[in-house]
Amino acid sequence: MPISETEVHLDPDALAAQLADDVRAGLTATPRTIPPKYFYDARGSRLFDEITRLPEYYPTRTERAILVDHAKEIALVTGARSLVELGSGTSEKTRLLLDALRDAGSLETFVPLDVDPAILAEAAEAVAAEYPGVTVAPVVADFERHLTLLPRHPRRLLAFLGSTIGNLDPGQRAHFLGEVRATLVEGDAFLLGTDLVKAEERLVAAYDDSAGVTAQFDLNVLRVLSRELGADLDPDAFVHRAVWVAEHDRVEMRLESVRDQRVRIEALDLDVDLAAGEQVRTEISTKFRRAGVERELATAGLRMTHWWTDVDGDFALSLSVPA
Ligand code: AVJ
Repeated sequence: MPISETEVHLDPDALAAQLADDVRAGLTATPRTIPPKYFYDARGSRLFDEITRLPEYYPTRTERAILVDHAKEIALVTGARSLVELGSGTSEKTRLLLDALRDAGSLETFVPLDVDPAILAEAAEAVAAEYPGVTVAPVVADFERHLTLLPRHPRRLLAFLGSTIGNLDPGQRAHFLGEVRATLVEGDAFLLGTDLVKAEERLVAAYDDSAGVTAQFDLNVLRVLSRELGADLDPDAFVHRAVWVAEHDRVEMRLESVRDQRVRIEALDLDVDLAAGEQVRTEISTKFRRAGVERELATAGLRMTHWWTDVDGDFALSLSVPA
């Protein structure tokens, strides 16, 4: 039914400027990096969608199964009147939460938040059509920067699913969780999806699937940069790597240069020399343990009240409240 006017905290110019800053900083750093948020243009989002259905990529279906089992309980214990989904994308798993909150009779407002206005509009319209009586209030924003500007609906449940928090390094996570804590008031709650540490071979397979979809997804960021920054990055001059870095409990995706090459990034007036075998890190995907999640939440002033996993202990959802 009703869609209220989209709140915009991030315009296309700001996004373009941030891309330029991030890429300059990342490609001139040691080791070289490209932030994972730039994977998700139209093609990248489609490839990610494909990843979520791969046999090796267990996180999406496992988190969905946990939600199937516990959404009702989440609705009952939170009594949430509004659901705020951070980095909502197409809001597919959100429907399990929306259904449960609607069935519990508490749901009034759904606030999807994403950097991409097009995806957001699509998700908003779909949810508005499927949930008559629920007000959809979309917000264009970056969850790393604009959380304190979120609308203050009563009894909010903030959901951050998919283990996207794993893309942040420890410092970024501390900042993010601090912002989450700052926006929450008494009666609000925070639902967090975290992928868990498990056997290395399963972790690596999840990020280097046999069909090569993840490789395509990784290489796609080169096309994004070529298009947005006038770069001449050739996807055929790189190969995809997925590496488990045990000391940081994370999988790193890297693009490895197959030869000595000089890449030109016109919009930055920047040339980067890459040696054969040199790697550019494109994503960290941190894997967690319960104690670590609880500690990081506590450090931010959040008290974990619930921890739900699948039977194999592959993935977890946690619920926390202001301490
Ligand atoms: C959407 C960030 C959770 O880190 O597992 C999937 C992205 N990268 N395959 C993840 C991703 C490679 C995914 N997140």
